Order: sequence, then C-alpha cells, then structure tokens
Amino acid sequence: MRIDVLSIFPDYFSPLELSLPGKARAKGLLDLHVHDLRQWTTDKHHTTDDTPYGGGAGMVMKPEPWGNAFDELEIDGATVIFTTPSGAPFTQEMARELATHERLVFACGRYEGIDQRVIEHAATRADVREISLGDYVLNGGEVAALAITEAVVRLIPGFMGNPESLAEESHEDGLLEYPVFTKPAAWRELEVPAVLLSGNHAAIAEWRHEQARRRTAERRPDLLHPSQAVTVGDLDALEVRAAIRGDVGEILTLQRACWMQEAQANPDIEVPALHESLDDVVGSLEAWTTHVVRHRGRLIASCRGRLEGSAWDIGRLMVAPDLQGRGLGRWLLAYVESLAPEPATSFSLFTGASSTENLRMYKKAGYRHRGAVDGVPGAVLLTKRRIF
Ligand SMILES: C[S@@+](CC[C@H](N)C(=O)[O-])C[C@H]1O[C@@H](n2cnc3c(N)ncnc32)[C@H](O)[C@@H]1O
Repeated sequence: MRIDVLSIFPDYFSPLELSLPGKARAKGLLDLHVHDLRQWTTDKHHTTDDTPYGGGAGMVMKPEPWGNAFDELEIDGATVIFTTPSGAPFTQEMARELATHERLVFACGRYEGIDQRVIEHAATRADVREISLGDYVLNGGEVAALAITEAVVRLIPGFMGNPESLAEESHEDGLLEYPVFTKPAAWRELEVPAVLLSGNHAAIAEWRHEQARRRTAERRPDLLHPSQAVTVGDLDALEVRAAIRGDVGEILTLQRACWMQEAQANPDIEVPALHESLDDVVGSLEAWTTHVVRHRGRLIASCRGRLEGSAWDIGRLMVAPDLQGRGLGRWLLAYVESLAPEPATSFSLFTGASSTENLRMYKKAGYRHRGAVDGVPGAVLLTKRRIF
C-alpha cells in the first residue's frame, strides 16, 4: 500500500517510523510519503490560509497549495481522505475496507478547515472520504491521519506476525474484547479467573464470549443487537417493579405479541389475552399483583399473581419474543413465585396443551400436569407445592 500524507506539520508523522508501521515499511508492505504542504505555496511566506468569505472567526486553508499538491502527486484514482470532525466516524469496519486499497492520500486540515472546493475538486479525480476520528475537535487532522494509518496498516495482509490475534480483537466480531491476563496467576491478591487455568478450551471460549458480550452490554450497548443486550446475567440492569397505570399500553402490546405465538401453537384455543382491551388490562391491575420488567426504558417482560384459596395463581408470564430463550422467563417465574403472600401453600398456572416450550420450562421449574382446565378448552393446569 502507498500512503501520501499532506500536512503543514509533517514532523507529526515521525512516530510512523516506530513500531509496527516502521516494520511494515521495512518489509516493503507500506510505502509512506509525508509531504509538507507549504512546498506547494507560491508566495515567499509560504501562506496556506486566508480569511473566510462571509466573515467569521479563524482562517481557512487556501485551495491553491492543495491543487498544486494533488497535481504533482497525481492523486487520480487514489482514495483521498480528508480528516474532519464533520466526516463519517472512523470504525474498525472502515479500517478493514481501507486496508484493501492500493493508495491512500491523507489531507490534514488546520485552522477552520479546508476551502470546500478542494474537496469537490478532489472528488472529480479520486475516491474522496471525509472521516472523523470522533465527536470532538482536534487542532489539526494529523492525529486523526496517524490513528487511521495505524488502524489500517495493521490490517494489511502480512503485516501482523500472528493474524489470529486480529480476529479476536475488540470490534472485529461486533463485540468489545474480553479481559486478558498473563502470568503470574496471582498478583497482589488478585487472581486470574480459574477457567483460564483449566486447560478446557471449550469452557475458556464460552467464558470469553460471555465476558465480551457482558462488557459490550455495559459499556457499548449501542453495538449490540437489542436481543443480545439482555440476559439473566444482566439482572442488575433491569428495572423490576409493580405495574402502574402508565405501563398498561405496553403490557397490552407485549401481551398481544406473546399470545400471538400461543395462538399459533394452539390453533384450536380461544386465547383471552389476545382479545382483551386496554380497559381490561387496567382492571386486571386491581385484581392481580402485576409486575413489569424494563430494560433501558423498554418494557420487556411482565407477570402477575393472585391468591385463589390457598394457591398463588400465576398468569400472563410473558417475555418479549426477541428476548425469549435466554433464561428471562425462568427467572421471572421464580420472581413471581417469590411474590406469593404467606397463606399460599402452592402455585398454579395454566398454558396451552401444545405450548411445548412453556411446558418444558414449567416442568424444569418443578410444576406437574393436573389435566384440563375447566372452561378453557385446550389448556392444561400445572401446579407445584410451595416450599417454605
Ligand atoms: C480546529 S479543526 C476545524 C474544526 C472546524 N471548524 C469544525 O468545526 O468542523 C482543524 C482541523 O482539525 C482536523 N480535525 C479536528 N477534529 C477532528 C476530528 N474529530 N476528526 C478528524 N479530524 C479532525 C480537521 O482536519 C480540521 O480541518
């Protein structure tokens, strides 16, 4: 790969002689040329900036030195990167893509930026990218060009001694990297997690994946698909509380989504949860102890219970369809059981006779089949003794 850098502070790029980029140059993988933009000025003061048209504070970089540099460096067909806080945020995915290009030309701005016509002109001759290092303002584009160069160059095939180390890194699989440890196994009373010393590669891989997922959920939930953002391991991040009137709209919406699945699994059953109105749900808050679970504001689960004789009758246990299968339903069942008042000596609930997943979960939780439910054809009653 050939990289040309245009800057009025070329000394900024001396770190590129060091470490891995230096090695890449030595190996012939990287052909790097740093140019002082001032060599393409024509006045004796080597001026690269002027006052802005329309007034305002600061100076703007003049177009002529850039045009002269582009001509002499023959940017035609190259990828020209203007580093700017108004550009697209730089990402690992972008780095991967740029690593496949044959030639990159960095145009580093200073002052209030570069005359817009320079960018427009470059776009007629080259593939132009405007890239930001992040949502903050630097004094110049050099630090951004350095960072982008380092991220891109280490992805050039043959650059890294052990390419496997690239695959495991933060952002490569959409997750942040898991925590890493080295010898000694105990240091200042802090121990390396036992699983890493176990030699069990499957268990290590599983632990690392879970750590990466958890770290990403905590620090960068924006990177996760919503369905990955919640598991029973994230209970601390969940708001669990008694339902209030303001929850009713979302409870009804969730109820319809969840019982639509039930209706599909049990086509012969008339599913009451699908036919209730908003007023019915409001009314149910009086008759039942209803609790809701929210994750980052979103209502993701709900359940309710009420005392029927000596049984704590559990109903409307629901988890948003995209979050099912990760233990939340099982946890919610134990939670609603824990809400049972003193007199309750057993738990009871019913579900569709063909709701295989529900039946499996209830069985695992210790519930036994008690046959059909009076007045609800196609449903089965399940009960469990309460253990104090
Ligand atoms: C002081 S900044 C100009 C900021 C400009 N007035 C604005 O508000 O967008 C000078 C130069 O630093 C570079 N720069 C500043 N922040 C940057 C960032 N977050 N990413 C990439 N380049 C940046 C750009 O090359 C920019 O032209």
